[in-house]
Amino acid sequence: MPDLLIGEGLRARDHHRLEDDARAAGPVHEARRPDGVRLLVVTAGLDLTRRLLADRRLSKDSGALQREMRRQFAASGSGQTDLTGLFGPSMLNSDDPRHARLRALAVKAFTSQAVRRLAPRVEEITADLVARLPVGEEVDLVSGLAVPMPLHVIGEVLGVPEQDRAAVRTMIETMLSMDPARSLPASDALGGYFHTLLTSGSFTEGSLFGALVAAEDDGDRLTHDELIAMAFLLVVAGHETTAGLIANVVHDALDNGLWQRAAADPDLVPVLVEETLRHNSPVRHATHRITTEPVEIDGVVVPENTILLVNLGAAGRCPRAHEDAASYRVDRATTGHASFGHGPHYCLGAALARLETETVVRHLAARFPGTTRAGDERPPVTHNDIMVSLRSLPVVLRTA
Ligand code: HEM
Repeated sequence: MPDLLIGEGLRARDHHRLEDDARAAGPVHEARRPDGVRLLVVTAGLDLTRRLLADRRLSKDSGALQREMRRQFAASGSGQTDLTGLFGPSMLNSDDPRHARLRALAVKAFTSQAVRRLAPRVEEITADLVARLPVGEEVDLVSGLAVPMPLHVIGEVLGVPEQDRAAVRTMIETMLSMDPARSLPASDALGGYFHTLLTSGSFTEGSLFGALVAAEDDGDRLTHDELIAMAFLLVVAGHETTAGLIANVVHDALDNGLWQRAAADPDLVPVLVEETLRHNSPVRHATHRITTEPVEIDGVVVPENTILLVNLGAAGRCPRAHEDAASYRVDRATTGHASFGHGPHYCLGAALARLETETVVRHLAARFPGTTRAGDERPPVTHNDIMVSLRSLPVVLRTA
């Protein structure tokens, strides 16, 4: 099913069905991005997906990924060349030892202990945003809450000044659009913004950016390109994904008649979050990998130098891992998924993402147990080759 799993052919509303059918048909599928890059999409069960994510023959090296993409751009005459934004030398686009070195510089800010310390601030930011939402009339939860909450939290942790955050958000949204005519200038603009912020020292004091700039000054610990790539990764991964998860949890809880139960029983909220991660995560695919040698995947030999996307949604809905895997249920005996990845690149922000999502859902359900969706239509989605997210989620907040 070329081009159906990603790119223009994706009928995003049916992406669960597409992925589950693809998994049933076999693990390896050809696909092509709108910018002409050809790649393989792997839709496998949970065990094989985890093995592949941890397999070091599926490299994350930014140099190798950029070389292969440039070769394809040249061959297809697409004219696309700038890959620094999403494919810069961040920890996510590196193998060890660079990966381990870069991850070690950021990990302290996101340990479970560090995240627990952030809890009161996450609650405060949530309460502040919720207080501004109109009650009893239609409101969009994506723009009013799901996006700004994690954006402010990651902005505070990293040191992005508050007055810049809305502009940063706009640049990211455009960069992720997969329309090269718009996304490349946006990626340049964001790179320029981070360069100025980091070289002028105008990030907030005591923030992670301050620690990273000190590591840059320390020469061999972080180069300037690595510093900019780290900023890109943490700001993008640190809010876009969580915003998508918050919207999906609220949507799934309302659509499955579980909202009032969550309002009455806050212990149900983490269960809803895990089930949405398993069944309906906004992150459909792990990020791009490239084979360093021929790799056999369930009987199919993938040649060296092939770009791969490993599907995570199909793995979460794997019928061998979960009974009635395609349904949304909160009474499961099994909860495993690969929605935060697996192996060396396991999501650095998993604890923060869970805290943020649980905080929003708990707060909103407790204050507005009578909330309903506005209209019967399925909310519109936006997609690129990694994510599918709700573009808006119109609801009516009601106290009863
Ligand atoms: C890595 C998902 C939130 C930072 C990953 C990966 C996934 C993922 C699947 C692995 C990618 C791969 O192997 O190709 C998610 C989801 C989130 C979320 C579903 C929210 C619901 C966050 C947040 C942060 C973050 C809040 C903030 C720090 C990162 C980083 C990596 C990563 C830095 C790269 C880790 C490495 O390469 O060692 N995430 N993420 N993520 N995530 Fe998240």
